[in-house]
Amino acid sequence: MKFFIDSADVNEIRMANDRGWVDGVTTNPTLVAKSGRSFEEVIKEICTITKGPVSAEVISLKADEMVKEGVALAKWADNVVVKIPMCEDGMVAVKKLTSLGIKTNVTLVFSVMQALLAAKAGATMVSPFVGRLDDISQDGMAMVNEVVQVYRNYDFTTEVLVASVRSPMHIQTAALIGADIATIPYKVMQQMTGHPLTTKGIEMFLSDWNKAQGK
Ligand code: G3P
Repeated sequence: MKFFIDSADVNEIRMANDRGWVDGVTTNPTLVAKSGRSFEEVIKEICTITKGPVSAEVISLKADEMVKEGVALAKWADNVVVKIPMCEDGMVAVKKLTSLGIKTNVTLVFSVMQALLAAKAGATMVSPFVGRLDDISQDGMAMVNEVVQVYRNYDFTTEVLVASVRSPMHIQTAALIGADIATIPYKVMQQMTGHPLTTKGIEMFLSDWNKAQGK
Protein backbone atom coordinates (compact mmCIF):
# COMPACT_ATOMS: atom_id res chain seq x y z
CA MET A 1 0.00 0.00 0.00
CA LYS A 2 1.36 3.42 -0.91
CA PHE A 3 1.15 6.35 1.49
CA PHE A 4 0.95 9.89 0.15
CA ILE A 5 0.99 12.89 2.45
CA ASP A 6 -1.89 15.33 1.97
CA SER A 7 -0.04 18.58 2.55
CA ALA A 8 1.60 21.65 1.01
CA ASP A 9 3.72 22.24 4.13
CA VAL A 10 7.29 21.35 3.11
CA ASN A 11 8.43 20.97 6.75
CA GLU A 12 5.90 18.26 7.55
CA ILE A 13 6.46 16.62 4.14
CA ARG A 14 10.19 16.42 4.97
CA MET A 15 9.43 14.99 8.45
CA ALA A 16 7.11 12.31 7.05
CA ASN A 17 9.64 11.54 4.30
CA ASP A 18 12.43 11.13 6.90
CA ARG A 19 10.22 8.51 8.59
CA GLY A 20 9.76 6.54 5.35
CA TRP A 21 6.05 7.36 5.07
CA VAL A 22 6.05 9.30 1.79
CA ASP A 23 5.53 7.50 -1.52
CA GLY A 24 4.01 10.68 -2.96
CA VAL A 25 2.23 13.94 -2.12
CA THR A 26 -1.19 15.41 -2.80
CA THR A 27 -1.97 19.10 -2.62
CA ASN A 28 -5.12 21.07 -3.31
CA PRO A 29 -5.83 24.81 -3.66
CA THR A 30 -6.87 25.02 0.03
CA LEU A 31 -3.61 23.43 1.24
CA VAL A 32 -1.47 25.61 -1.06
CA ALA A 33 -3.32 28.76 0.11
CA LYS A 34 -2.69 27.67 3.73
CA SER A 35 1.06 27.38 3.02
CA GLY A 36 1.11 31.10 2.17
CA ARG A 37 3.58 30.44 -0.67
CA SER A 38 3.35 30.67 -4.44
CA PHE A 39 1.86 27.58 -6.08
CA GLU A 40 4.76 27.07 -8.47
CA GLU A 41 7.44 27.56 -5.81
CA VAL A 42 5.84 25.13 -3.35
CA ILE A 43 5.15 22.37 -5.93
CA LYS A 44 8.70 22.62 -7.30
CA GLU A 45 10.15 22.34 -3.78
CA ILE A 46 7.92 19.33 -2.93
CA CYS A 47 9.13 17.64 -6.13
CA THR A 48 12.71 17.88 -4.85
CA ILE A 49 11.76 16.18 -1.54
CA THR A 50 10.18 13.11 -3.15
CA LYS A 51 10.56 11.44 -6.52
CA GLY A 52 7.05 9.99 -6.04
CA PRO A 53 3.95 11.46 -7.70
CA VAL A 54 3.03 15.01 -6.58
CA SER A 55 -0.53 16.09 -7.37
CA ALA A 56 -1.02 19.72 -8.40
CA GLU A 57 -4.58 20.87 -9.10
CA VAL A 58 -5.87 22.94 -12.01
CA ILE A 59 -8.12 25.93 -11.30
CA SER A 60 -9.90 26.29 -14.67
CA LEU A 61 -13.29 24.68 -15.23
CA LYS A 62 -13.24 24.56 -19.04
CA ALA A 63 -11.67 21.54 -20.74
CA ASP A 64 -9.29 23.37 -23.07
CA GLU A 65 -8.07 25.65 -20.26
CA MET A 66 -7.61 22.65 -17.94
CA VAL A 67 -5.48 20.98 -20.61
CA LYS A 68 -3.39 24.16 -21.06
CA GLU A 69 -2.91 24.44 -17.29
CA GLY A 70 -2.16 20.72 -16.98
CA VAL A 71 0.48 20.81 -19.73
CA ALA A 72 2.15 23.78 -17.98
CA LEU A 73 2.02 22.06 -14.54
CA ALA A 74 3.55 18.87 -15.97
CA LYS A 75 6.57 20.93 -17.12
CA TRP A 76 7.37 21.99 -13.52
CA ALA A 77 8.83 18.54 -12.69
CA ASP A 78 8.81 14.98 -14.04
CA ASN A 79 6.78 13.69 -11.08
CA VAL A 80 3.90 16.20 -11.27
CA VAL A 81 0.47 14.57 -11.56
CA VAL A 82 -2.29 16.88 -12.78
CA LYS A 83 -5.28 16.93 -10.45
CA ILE A 84 -8.57 17.46 -12.26
CA PRO A 85 -12.02 17.88 -10.67
CA MET A 86 -14.69 15.32 -11.53
CA CYS A 87 -16.99 16.94 -14.13
CA GLU A 88 -17.65 16.51 -17.86
CA ASP A 89 -15.05 19.08 -18.91
CA GLY A 90 -12.64 17.43 -16.50
CA MET A 91 -13.09 14.09 -18.25
CA VAL A 92 -12.32 15.70 -21.65
CA ALA A 93 -9.14 17.12 -20.10
CA VAL A 94 -8.19 13.75 -18.57
CA LYS A 95 -8.57 11.99 -21.91
CA LYS A 96 -6.46 14.64 -23.69
CA LEU A 97 -3.74 14.81 -21.01
CA THR A 98 -3.54 11.00 -20.91
CA SER A 99 -3.05 10.95 -24.70
CA LEU A 100 -0.15 13.40 -24.20
CA GLY A 101 1.45 11.04 -21.66
CA ILE A 102 0.60 13.28 -18.68
CA LYS A 103 -0.58 11.58 -15.48
CA THR A 104 -3.86 12.64 -13.89
CA ASN A 105 -5.62 12.36 -10.53
CA VAL A 106 -9.40 12.84 -10.70
CA THR A 107 -10.47 14.56 -7.50
CA LEU A 108 -13.72 15.28 -5.64
CA VAL A 109 -15.11 11.81 -6.33
CA PHE A 110 -18.09 10.92 -4.15
CA SER A 111 -19.70 7.98 -5.97
CA VAL A 112 -18.86 4.69 -7.64
CA MET A 113 -20.29 5.98 -10.94
CA GLN A 114 -17.97 9.01 -10.91
CA ALA A 115 -15.02 6.68 -10.25
CA LEU A 116 -16.07 4.43 -13.12
CA LEU A 117 -16.27 7.38 -15.53
CA ALA A 118 -12.85 8.67 -14.40
CA ALA A 119 -11.31 5.25 -15.09
CA LYS A 120 -12.95 5.10 -18.52
CA ALA A 121 -11.53 8.56 -19.34
CA GLY A 122 -8.06 7.14 -18.60
CA ALA A 123 -7.29 8.66 -15.18
CA THR A 124 -4.05 7.46 -13.60
CA MET A 125 -5.55 7.83 -10.12
CA VAL A 126 -8.98 8.49 -8.70
CA SER A 127 -9.56 10.22 -5.36
CA PRO A 128 -12.68 9.14 -3.48
CA PHE A 129 -13.23 11.60 -0.59
CA VAL A 130 -14.17 9.51 2.44
CA GLY A 131 -14.19 12.07 5.28
CA ARG A 132 -16.47 14.51 3.51
CA LEU A 133 -18.97 11.68 2.87
CA ASP A 134 -18.80 10.60 6.53
CA ASP A 135 -19.43 14.27 7.43
CA ILE A 136 -22.85 14.05 5.75
CA SER A 137 -23.68 10.66 7.34
CA GLN A 138 -22.75 8.57 4.30
CA ASP A 139 -20.26 5.71 4.53
CA GLY A 140 -17.12 6.88 2.71
CA MET A 141 -15.23 3.61 3.11
CA ALA A 142 -18.20 1.59 1.77
CA MET A 143 -17.91 3.66 -1.41
CA VAL A 144 -14.15 2.92 -1.62
CA ASN A 145 -14.86 -0.80 -1.20
CA GLU A 146 -17.28 -0.69 -4.15
CA VAL A 147 -14.89 1.33 -6.33
CA VAL A 148 -12.11 -1.23 -5.72
CA GLN A 149 -14.49 -4.07 -6.56
CA VAL A 150 -15.72 -2.43 -9.79
CA TYR A 151 -12.16 -1.67 -10.96
CA ARG A 152 -11.16 -5.30 -10.24
CA ASN A 153 -14.20 -6.64 -12.12
CA TYR A 154 -12.99 -4.95 -15.30
CA ASP A 155 -9.21 -4.80 -14.75
CA PHE A 156 -9.04 -1.00 -14.80
CA THR A 157 -5.48 0.18 -14.15
CA THR A 158 -6.60 3.44 -12.50
CA GLU A 159 -5.27 3.48 -8.93
CA VAL A 160 -7.65 4.10 -6.03
CA LEU A 161 -6.27 6.93 -3.89
CA VAL A 162 -8.29 7.25 -0.67
CA ALA A 163 -8.55 10.98 0.13
CA SER A 164 -10.16 13.25 2.73
CA VAL A 165 -8.79 10.96 5.43
CA ARG A 166 -9.70 11.95 8.97
CA SER A 167 -8.51 9.07 11.19
CA PRO A 168 -6.25 5.97 11.44
CA MET A 169 -9.40 3.84 11.08
CA HIS A 170 -9.82 5.13 7.52
CA ILE A 171 -6.30 3.86 6.73
CA GLN A 172 -6.85 0.47 8.38
CA THR A 173 -10.08 -0.05 6.44
CA ALA A 174 -8.46 1.14 3.19
CA ALA A 175 -5.61 -1.36 3.71
CA LEU A 176 -8.04 -4.22 4.39
CA ILE A 177 -10.05 -3.34 1.28
CA GLY A 178 -6.84 -3.27 -0.77
CA ALA A 179 -6.98 0.36 -1.93
CA ASP A 180 -3.76 1.20 -3.83
CA ILE A 181 -2.96 4.47 -2.03
CA ALA A 182 -4.14 6.61 0.88
CA THR A 183 -3.28 10.28 1.12
CA ILE A 184 -2.91 11.12 4.77
CA PRO A 185 -2.58 14.38 6.73
CA TYR A 186 0.61 14.38 8.87
CA LYS A 187 -1.50 14.61 12.06
CA VAL A 188 -3.19 11.29 11.20
CA MET A 189 0.22 9.69 10.46
CA GLN A 190 1.26 10.71 13.98
CA GLN A 191 -1.97 9.28 15.43
CA MET A 192 -1.19 5.99 13.65
CA THR A 193 2.22 5.85 15.36
CA GLY A 194 1.08 5.73 18.96
CA HIS A 195 -0.45 3.14 21.26
CA PRO A 196 -0.92 3.60 25.04
CA LEU A 197 0.63 0.16 25.70
CA THR A 198 3.71 1.13 23.67
CA THR A 199 4.15 4.29 25.78
CA LYS A 200 3.58 2.30 28.98
CA GLY A 201 5.98 -0.45 27.83
CA ILE A 202 8.78 2.03 27.02
CA GLU A 203 8.36 3.68 30.46
CA MET A 204 8.38 0.30 32.23
CA PHE A 205 11.51 -0.99 30.42
CA LEU A 206 13.35 2.24 31.20
CA SER A 207 12.34 2.29 34.87
CA ASP A 208 13.30 -1.41 35.34
CA TRP A 209 16.66 -0.69 33.66
CA ASN A 210 17.32 2.33 35.88
CA LYS A 211 16.37 0.35 39.03
CA ALA A 212 18.87 -2.39 38.08
CA GLN A 213 21.58 0.30 37.72
CA GLY A 214 20.74 1.53 41.24
CA LYS A 215 19.36 4.84 39.93
O1 G3P B 1 -6.57 16.71 -0.92
C1 G3P B 1 -7.87 16.22 -1.03
C2 G3P B 1 -8.49 15.80 0.26
O2 G3P B 1 -7.68 14.86 0.90
C3 G3P B 1 -8.99 16.90 1.15
O3 G3P B 1 -9.40 16.44 2.40
O4 G3P B 1 -9.93 16.92 4.75
O5 G3P B 1 -10.23 18.72 3.05
O6 G3P B 1 -11.79 16.77 3.14
P1 G3P B 1 -10.39 17.27 3.37
